[in-house]
Formats: sequence, structure tokens, C-alpha cells
Amino acid sequence: MSDPADLDRLLARAWAARARAYAPYSGFLVGAAVQGASGAIYTGCNVENASIGLTVCAERVAVFQAVLAGERALIAAAVVAASPAPPTLCGACRQVLREFAADLPLVCANQAGQRRVYRLGELLPDSFGPEAFQSVQPYFSLL
Ligand code: THU
Repeated sequence: MSDPADLDRLLARAWAARARAYAPYSGFLVGAAVQGASGAIYTGCNVENASIGLTVCAERVAVFQAVLAGERALIAAAVVAASPAPPTLCGACRQVLREFAADLPLVCANQAGQRRVYRLGELLPDSFGPEAFQSVQPYFSLL
């Protein structure tokens, strides 16, 4: 992911996904791509809903696609939008990414070609993750 070619490939997949965004209410089209530990890339776009509250962000759609394909660890992510500055991720998406990566490089880009590279740990410091349950017996196993 530190390789600029990898980063470009991830961004290109995110832009292609953005073309499928369903955002009739906000008009804010977002595309996302995540790379799994296998090396494969999964994409997502935002899917809005007339209820507004049931809208799902592009990043979460991409993560769920990765999980559906059998990935359990993510190694990189990209998010794109036609925003004045490179888009950043909402809190919910940061936490959902965190489930599958304690820290990962994340590139955000806008249509003007501006880019910003973060690490997830920087966007979600001192985060709560699956490790928190390591010493806890799952409730359902007690039944
Ligand atoms: N959105 C995303 O898809 N990802 C983000 O990180 C921020 C927001 C979407 C949700 C909604 O469809 C639209 O952008 C406006 O919030």
C-alpha cells in the first residue's frame, strides 16, 4: 500500500464503485475500496434510503463485501467523493473498519486529484475492538 501503484489501483476501484452510488437525497456520491489480506479488492458505494436513517455508507458496503467473500483482515482502504477537500470517514465506518484491522493505511481523494493519506489508528485512537472480548466467555456459550 505504500507503493503508489497499489494506491492508484485502490483509488481507481473506488471511483468505479462511486459510479454506482445511490444518493438521490444528498446528491453526495461516495465510492470506497478495501483490500483484504488475500490481496483482493472489494468495493462499495453509498446506498441511501427514503427513511434517511437507513442509509449505508460506501465504506461499510465495501467491508461487508469483503467479509462475504471470506476476508477476516483488511490491509488498506480508499474513499473517494467530489468534495471540496478529500473526503473523510464517518465515525460509524471508522469503527466498522476497526473490526477487521487495528490499523491500516487509508487514502482519501477528491475529483480535483487532492489526496490525503491517514492511518486508521489516527482517525480512531484508543479504539474498542474484538480483542476486548478475548477473556470474556461469550454469553451464548453459557446457555
Ligand atoms: N457517506 C459515505 O458514503 N461515506 C462517508 O464516509 C460519509 C458519508 C454518504 C452517506 C450519505 O449517503 C451521504 O454520504 C451524505 O452523508
